[in-house]
Amino acid sequence: MAATPVSVLAEQPGESLRTHLRAATMAAHDLLDNAMQAASGWQTRSDYARFLALQHAARVPLEAWLEAHAPAALRPPPQTPLIARDLAQLGAQVPAPARLFTLGRAGPGHALGTAWVLAGSALGNRAIAKAVARIGGGQWPVAFLGDGAMMDFWQALRARIDRPSVPTDAAEATGATDAAEAVFAHFLAVAALSQAAEPASESARS
Ligand code: HEM
Repeated sequence: MAATPVSVLAEQPGESLRTHLRAATMAAHDLLDNAMQAASGWQTRSDYARFLALQHAARVPLEAWLEAHAPAALRPPPQTPLIARDLAQLGAQVPAPARLFTLGRAGPGHALGTAWVLAGSALGNRAIAKAVARIGGGQWPVAFLGDGAMMDFWQALRARIDRPSVPTDAAEATGATDAAEAVFAHFLAVAALSQAAEPASESARS
């Protein structure tokens, strides 16, 4: 008999918020990973510049939203200045920012969910940094991918979301999940636009 599917929409008793957020956004993360590889990847210097441009465009409105709505402890260190520096070293332009990111009226958990997606992406960035170092022979700039301040922020945030949650956290968990889903959707939209404009080089897809 098939196992009863476990809903990822409602938090399970005793589950940590991090486990819940990961389960709720796993499919979106996989889609985004694929979309970003299709939109740019990082197989060539120009692919890597497009990857950074996509990251910059997507993150500008998210960082602005956090600046306006998040308490200091939930405001990850801005990374768009680092991305701009990497782009300049590659001789590439900083792109126009993506359209406004909004969650309507900011509510409980929204800042936490948004911060989690941006900070959690540092885990993926660490893996991508290794590939970029190999492919670029150590010559490509990695201020963004190797950002130590974001890893420090991530460790502090992780301590907060790794503990088993209690029922009083329910509103925060719902808000954080909504926000995390909205941030993934925002990134996906930017990746789709970028792919439509200029798909990744053949080498990235072969
Ligand atoms: C570009 C392609 C991407 C790849 C290859 C990638 C890869 C990864 C990897 C390897 C992990 C770590 C899994 C683990 O150690 O448990 C991870 C986690 C994560 N990534 Fe990505 N990622 C990508 C893009 C993104 C983007 C653009 C975002 C959001 C802006 C993002 C958000 C996250 C989050 C929130 C986590 C989970 C953090 C946690 O464990 O709580 N990723 N990713």
